[in-house]
Amino acid sequence: MQDIDDRMSSTRKRLFIKTYGCQMNVYDSERMKDVLHPLGYEPAEEPDGADLVILNTCHIREKAAEKVYSELGRLRPLKEAKAKTGGMTIAVAGCVAQAEGAEIMKRAPVVDLVVGPQTYHKLPELIAKAHRERGEALDTEFEVEDKFDQLGNDRQVEGYSAFVTVQEGCDKFCTFCVVPYTRGAEWSRPVDQIVAEIRALAAKGIREVTLLGQNVNAFHGEPPAGREADGPWGLGQLVRHVALIGGIERIRFTTSHPRDMDQDLIDAFADTPKLMPYFHLPVQAGSDKILKAMNRQHTAEDYLATIEKLRTARPDIAISGDMIVGFPGETDKDFEATLDLVRAVNYASCFSFKYSKRPGTPGAAMFNQIDETVKSERLQVLQDLLSEQQVAFNEAQIGRTLPVLFEKAGRLEGQLHGRSPYLQSVHVEAPAAMIGQIGEVLIKSATRNALTGRFVSKEQSAA
Ligand code: SAH
Ligand code: SF4
Ligand code: F3S
Repeated sequence: MQDIDDRMSSTRKRLFIKTYGCQMNVYDSERMKDVLHPLGYEPAEEPDGADLVILNTCHIREKAAEKVYSELGRLRPLKEAKAKTGGMTIAVAGCVAQAEGAEIMKRAPVVDLVVGPQTYHKLPELIAKAHRERGEALDTEFEVEDKFDQLGNDRQVEGYSAFVTVQEGCDKFCTFCVVPYTRGAEWSRPVDQIVAEIRALAAKGIREVTLLGQNVNAFHGEPPAGREADGPWGLGQLVRHVALIGGIERIRFTTSHPRDMDQDLIDAFADTPKLMPYFHLPVQAGSDKILKAMNRQHTAEDYLATIEKLRTARPDIAISGDMIVGFPGETDKDFEATLDLVRAVNYASCFSFKYSKRPGTPGAAMFNQIDETVKSERLQVLQDLLSEQQVAFNEAQIGRTLPVLFEKAGRLEGQLHGRSPYLQSVHVEAPAAMIGQIGEVLIKSATRNALTGRFVSKEQSAA
C-alpha cells in the first residue's frame, strides 16, 4: 500500500462515477467513492478533466450493456485531452465488467482496469497496478465477505435516505436473467454488521433506509451476538431490528421474489409501522406456461394469493412490480394472461420490459423467440394499462393527508421535494426547516409521476 498512498494522497483528485442499472449498483458506486476518498478523490459532476472515471455497468438487457461501449467511445477524446495534465484512468466496474471483463480490455484499449461487483474494495490497489501495467488490472473474483469487512461504516452520505445492501447474489436462475452469473451465489450479511452500518448512517442524519438485495427476501443472515440460538434471521426479523435504531423513521426493502415470501415478513407489514406500505414484488408474467419456462417456480395464482395476504396484513399497501413481454413461446393468449394478472393486482407502479436475449442464459437458446415488432406492440398495450393504474393510484391520494419525508428544496422557490409512504414524489410549499423531517401534507392534485398539495404540519409522532 505504501506506493499507492505516496502517489495518491498528496493531491486532491477528481473522480467521476457513472452508474447504470439497479439500486445495488447505486450502493456500490457510493461505496467506491468511500474507498477512494482517503486517497484524495473528490466527486466530480462530469467526466471532463477527471483523474479517474468509473463506469459502474449493468448487464441485465442488451441495451444496458451496449451503452458501456458507446460511453467509452465518448470518453476517449477526454482521456487524450487529459494526457498532458496527469492523465485519466478509466475503470469499468459492475455487471458488464463481471460478465465480459477480459473482452472489455481487448475491445476497448481506452479502459485501464476492470473490477467486478465483489472486488471494488480493492480499487486503490488496482489503480496502482493499472499505472504499472494495464494487463494486470483485472479483478472479477467473488469475495463478498472480504468486501464488506474492508468497506467499513464511514460512508460519505448526502441527504436523508440511504441504500444498504444486506444480501447479494441469486441462486434462482430464472431462464432470462444474468444476475446469478454476474453477482454470484446468494449470500447474506451478518445482522450485526448491517446494524452497525445503519447506526452510523443514522448518526449522519439518515432517516430512511432501503435494504437491498437481488433477492432480498431470501435474506438469512447470521443472528446478532447473544441470539446465536435463533439460527439465521429472516428479513422480517431484520426489519423489526432495524426499526429499533434511533433516528431511522422509515424502512423499505427491494427486490423480493414471490417464492421467498414467508408469513413473518408479511406480518412485519402489520406490526412494524416504520416499514413503509409499498412493496416491490416482480412477477414477470401472468401465464403459468411462461412462468414455468422462466423457471420462476410459482404460478400466477400463488402470486395473487401472496398479494391478498399482504393486503390483509396492511390494507393500504401499494404493490409495484416488473413485467417481461415477449419471452420465448409467449402467445397472444399468454400475453392476455399477463394483462389479466395486472388487472387483478392493480399496481401502484410497475416496470415493464421487452424480453432481451442474454448470452449464456437458457432463454437465449430457446428456439421459439418472439418477433421484435410483436414484443413492441405487447409492451405498448401493457404500458398503457400500467400507466392508467398508476394515474388512478396517484389520484386516489387526493384528499388524503400523507406523511412526507422532505428530502431537498424543490425546483420552484419555496417548494420542497419529498416522498410519500408509497414512494411518490411530492412537491409542496413548506418551510425549509422541514428538510430532513417528516411532515403532513394534504394532497390536492396528482399526475402520473407526482403529487402536490398543502403542507399541514410537522408530524406529531414518527411514522
Ligand atoms: N432480482 C429481481 C430482479 C432483477 S433484474 C427479481 O428477481 O425480480 C430487474 C428486472 O429486469 C427483472 O425483474 C426483470 O423484469 C427484468 N429483466 C431481467 N432480465 C431481463 C431480460 N433478459 N430481458 C428483459 N428484462 C429482464
Ligand atoms: Fe434474476 Fe430471477 Fe434471480 Fe431475480 S430471482 S435476480 S430475475 S435470476
Ligand atoms: Fe444490472 Fe447487475 Fe443490477 S445486471 S440490474 S446492475 S445486478
